[in-house]
Amino acid sequence: MTMVRIIYTSAFKAGIDHSEINKIHATSHANNVKWQVTGMLCFGSRKFLQCLEGDRDRVNALFQKISRDPRHEEITILKYDSIHEREFDRFSMKLILLTKAANKAVARFSGTETFDPYLMSGETALRMMLSLREHIPTDPPENKTPKPAPT
Ligand SMILES: Cc1cc2nc3c(=O)[nH]c(=O)nc-3n(C[C@H](O)[C@H](O)[C@H](O)COP(=O)(O)O)c2cc1C
Repeated sequence: MTMVRIIYTSAFKAGIDHSEINKIHATSHANNVKWQVTGMLCFGSRKFLQCLEGDRDRVNALFQKISRDPRHEEITILKYDSIHEREFDRFSMKLILLTKAANKAVARFSGTETFDPYLMSGETALRMMLSLREHIPTDPPENKTPKPAPT
């Protein structure tokens, strides 16, 4: 299996309700688990930055589907690589809402606290997502039996 990683940015269309973000995330989680696609979706200042990784045919097909989604526009590919291993294997699709706290990470990679992935190189965008990854806990596996409280 040849694996790839794609990183792209896009703009949330004006007039679309914010609640769509959670819907996108829920659909992504369900589909990506099924297709073994992993990655991260950052959202801030009405812009998306997404990384998708997995089997080349599946990632390509998913990206084509996402590009036709009417909820966003100005889709711009920042980076596309064949990869040996996944960086986001812990996440079917981790949603990161770039609030003020998270914007510190943005400032480190863009020199400003305003999230504008259109101004980032693909490499910088990847490094920012890797940095964000380090600060988030692993998703709890579904149906996991809770650990007994320490005695
Ligand atoms: C910014 C953005 C990111 C998305 N990411 C994913 C994704 O990672 N996986 C996914 O299945 N759908 C994603 N979608 C939704 C797809 O465009 C599409 O609506 C969805 O895959 C349809 O799923 P269905 O065929 O199961 O109805 C995304 C949409 C947007 C706008």
